[in-house]
Amino acid sequence: SFKYRGEPISNQVEDLKNLIEYRKSKTSEEKPNLEIKRLKKTRFKVISNNEIAINFFQLVIEAPLIARKAKPGNFIILMKEEISERIPLTISDWNTVKGTITLYFQEAGYSTMELTDLNTGDYLYSVVGPLGNDIEIKNFGTVLLAGGCYGNGAIYPIAKALKSVGNKVIVILEARNENLFYLEEEFEEISDLIVYCTSDGSKGLKGKILTALEHITSQGINLDRAYFIGCTYMMRDASDYTKESGNIPTFVSLNTIMIDGTGMCGCCRLTLIQDGKEITKFACIDGPIFNGHQIKWDELFSRNERFEEPEISIYQTHSCKAIEKFNAGDIDE
Ligand SMILES: Cc1cc2nc3c(=O)[nH]c(=O)nc-3n(C[C@H](O)[C@H](O)[C@H](O)COP(=O)(O)OP(=O)(O)OC[C@H]3O[C@@H](n4cnc5c(N)ncnc54)[C@H](O)[C@@H]3O)c2cc1C
Ligand code: FES
Repeated sequence: SFKYRGEPISNQVEDLKNLIEYRKSKTSEEKPNLEIKRLKKTRFKVISNNEIAINFFQLVIEAPLIARKAKPGNFIILMKEEISERIPLTISDWNTVKGTITLYFQEAGYSTMELTDLNTGDYLYSVVGPLGNDIEIKNFGTVLLAGGCYGNGAIYPIAKALKSVGNKVIVILEARNENLFYLEEEFEEISDLIVYCTSDGSKGLKGKILTALEHITSQGINLDRAYFIGCTYMMRDASDYTKESGNIPTFVSLNTIMIDGTGMCGCCRLTLIQDGKEITKFACIDGPIFNGHQIKWDELFSRNERFEEPEISIYQTHSCKAIEKFNAGDIDE
């Protein structure tokens, strides 16, 4: 007689049905077979998964409930299979009508490499979200949004939202080479000024984030806020720069190692320094976006590197798709 939103729960969950029968027959001689039946995967369908730049993929997933609640700054944690690692990825776009979310991921190691094989029509084992705190969206004046690596995709929803409320939006896109840029057209549409920066000078300025920041400062542009998403070195260097350049309010989205994403495991722990005092935070529930001027960067680096050896070793036992393509002559050096 127990009902869950109009349906007997025993109709919904096969394992629970077994359990109810088991309880009923507890006193009888014969016990039902309690073998767990795997539920057929019917949620989180892959709509598309395309390599949009070398080793960067755009993954669109059917996840209507997440699409309905997503806000700039949020992320999800997904698992490809039941035995897969949990991977945190930023929600870069969402469509409430189609019920889809868009993620951009970089093949960084073994688990993200596993995602590259996903095809249209496949299903993911789980997608949890939206996680993380929403970012404050209002008219601050002139805002800078800088992305490097996967950060180009992650910074996009924040840039779009800040533009929609009237900010003057300046964007820096940073990469090692011009072939690693993506979402350029989308950024061109929402930016008042866009600065490209490559390590090899193949597009825009030659250099890294500091070169681009110096370029913007040299134009006499005053920034009211700055957001940086990319590798930890990029976010640290940029935060140091904005601190020295008049303490411009600066926010970074931390890519700490995460497991549960609910504040229980402690894996994503970091330290903020506020008024000289050290304060413990968890990136999954207190962030992932933090004041870049308060982060204890050295500790963050060492915590992020603690599994580097096994990460590299498991990745190296599998072949890299970019190298395979290069060897096959499909891409240039
Ligand atoms: C809130 C958040 C949002 C993120 N958004 C994106 C995104 O939009 N696109 C994207 O490409 N990447 C994103 N990342 C990083 C992404 O989760 C990692 O690159 C991925 O988990 C690496 O797994 P791997 O097995 O492929 O690589 P690994 O070989 O495990 O590691 C490669 C690097 O990733 C880091 N890493 C390893 N495991 C984890 C983990 N479980 N959680 C976080 N970092 C880890 C390590 O520091 C290592 O340097 C995000 C991370 C966080 C915390
Ligand atoms: S991921 Fe476990 S506490 Fe944040």
